[in-house]
Amino acid sequence: SARDWERHADVVVVGGGISGYTAALTAQARGLRVLVVIKSVVGDTATSLAQGGVAVVDGSVPADNVAAHVADTVTAGDELVDGDTARVIIGDGAAAIATLQARGAVFDRGLSSLKRTREGGHTHSRIIHAGGDATGAEIQRALNTAARELPVLEHHTVLALCTTDGTVNGVAVVDADGNRGLIHAPAVVLATGGAGQLYSVTTNPAGSTGDGVALALRAGASIADMEFMQFHPTMLFTPRSSGTRPLISEAVRGEGAVLVDAYGKRIASPDPRGDLASRDIVARAIATHMHRTGTDHVYLDATTIDGFAARFPTITAYCRAEGINPRTTPIPVAPGAHYHCGGVVTDAFGRTNVPGLFAIGEVARTGLHGANRLASNSLLEGAVMGERVVQPVFEDILIRPRSEAGWQCPRETPASHQVLQRIMSTHVGVVRDSEGLDRAANLVAQAEMQTLGRQSSFADQNLTLVAKAVIAAAQLRRETRGCHTRLDHPYRDSGFARSITLTMRDGSFT
Ligand code: SIN
Repeated sequence: SARDWERHADVVVVGGGISGYTAALTAQARGLRVLVVIKSVVGDTATSLAQGGVAVVDGSVPADNVAAHVADTVTAGDELVDGDTARVIIGDGAAAIATLQARGAVFDRGLSSLKRTREGGHTHSRIIHAGGDATGAEIQRALNTAARELPVLEHHTVLALCTTDGTVNGVAVVDADGNRGLIHAPAVVLATGGAGQLYSVTTNPAGSTGDGVALALRAGASIADMEFMQFHPTMLFTPRSSGTRPLISEAVRGEGAVLVDAYGKRIASPDPRGDLASRDIVARAIATHMHRTGTDHVYLDATTIDGFAARFPTITAYCRAEGINPRTTPIPVAPGAHYHCGGVVTDAFGRTNVPGLFAIGEVARTGLHGANRLASNSLLEGAVMGERVVQPVFEDILIRPRSEAGWQCPRETPASHQVLQRIMSTHVGVVRDSEGLDRAANLVAQAEMQTLGRQSSFADQNLTLVAKAVIAAAQLRRETRGCHTRLDHPYRDSGFARSITLTMRDGSFT
């Protein structure tokens, strides 16, 4: 295929959020030649938008320990968490946070130690934060500064992973002007984030288009847990908004806010933990309430929290922009697509089943999240896996001979993302049933036919492939578990107590 330039690196990292930049910095510190590829600009990441914080146990809360954090993670994941992986990742948390601090991230401090808050599903206050509710922005700021010397290609989209005999050995990229390049590298680390743009409203940035999952699938990688798209219970609701909406952090509930209806009455929860149950349960309770009462939002009453603006400056600014004063008025909220628990299957070092290919952060499915990620475990996973992946990358580079990279651009006919978002939001949202899922599958196929022969964006190709995988997995899981709610199968079924894994052959899932 045509290419305008070629480069060589030891490792290509695709994505510049917490996991990608951590991997790149750590690889560079070990003497590897690193190249980071970002399709937008530095800092335009989901990491930058993260509010609540990082769940981490470091011995400073006497009653808390790694085993308790693992237990909460396993409970939230509704029987699909890989316990060994959870112990490894959570066990590495304190060291990964120390590394982030060494790289310049400053977390909020009390008199003697870091401040900690609570979020849904946690039995202890173990969530550290920065700038009140600007945790991700602070981490991203620190990493950007630490990464000043890193070679970063901005505005470069990865078109395909290069492979020779089933082994990944580089990436083909295109810039905004259409110039194509080939980067030869014996190791490629996907750190591309999630796929919130599958839905009309999401907390994710515009770039969360499932790129990594699509690229990995086409290169022969296995994906799993795709049906578990997590909906955050409290996205700021504004009538006109579509696309990316502000999050109202769970930490607001952690500090005492409660979910109420338009009359100030508490939203009923089936769980004794109430508004601080895990996210799947709270989102389902809100969706049920909205469905029953025919409304499109509920409210989060934070008027009892003293010093709200100081504790939550980011959220206060978002609310003010909508003319809402959280000190005096309950905040309108609704669930929104927030985090993809599934993704490219990896081990606890970020290795995929394809030699030369690694995946870390939201794009990966390590087994930490199971059917429903525990709040604030995602920045933790990103920081830890960004460190851990460097070991196998390093080993790979020593043993792998260099070979000529070959690649093919995908020849898929995608649906437009607006059409996809409508289909996914209507039929593959917080609640699902077989009729709606079948309809979604048919509608996506029809939408693909309609775009046949037309120019399509690469992001739309990726979104379409990922949508099809989410629908396929959701059709197969005929039960309700974690963030997959089936109205036609309302209970957990022990026959489904395992992950659904998909691979692609000749354009179909197997
Ligand atoms: C939050 O701020 O609500 C928690 C963020 C998350 O874990 O998704």
